[in-house]
Amino acid sequence: MLAIGEFARRAGVSVATLHFYERKGLLHSHRSGGNQRLYERQSLRRIAFIRAAQQVGFTLTQIAAALDTLPAQRTPNRQDWARLSAQWREDLDQRMRALQQLRDQLDQCIGCGCLSLSKCSLFNPDDELGNDGAGARRWS
Ligand code: FES
Repeated sequence: MLAIGEFARRAGVSVATLHFYERKGLLHSHRSGGNQRLYERQSLRRIAFIRAAQQVGFTLTQIAAALDTLPAQRTPNRQDWARLSAQWREDLDQRMRALQQLRDQLDQCIGCGCLSLSKCSLFNPDDELGNDGAGARRWS
């Protein structure tokens, strides 16, 4: 077991961050006889997991949801990390595709300046027929 100061130093985060993670349910501590927070050494791996997930761009809510898939507050082991990081890769791929689509839509705005709520591709991303001009485009 590590006292909170030592745990924070080894984890590379502040004591306030540890308190915050505990309030969010991301981290758990034990209490000493003097009511001091004590952390299991293996919880350092949990901090590494949280920081890696944040580095990839996940919110604390998403990280908490991922940690909740582990049994009984377990610290992610090698297999857990492999499984969760593979899921995150797919999520990253989806976000990258969405950003590329947004960039392509923004390309259409460069030099336009209309900011039309009815015509601008940023407000109407699925308006495929809008590229052909205004008004009805299809007979039904
Ligand atoms: S500003 Fe004209 S298409 Fe977006």
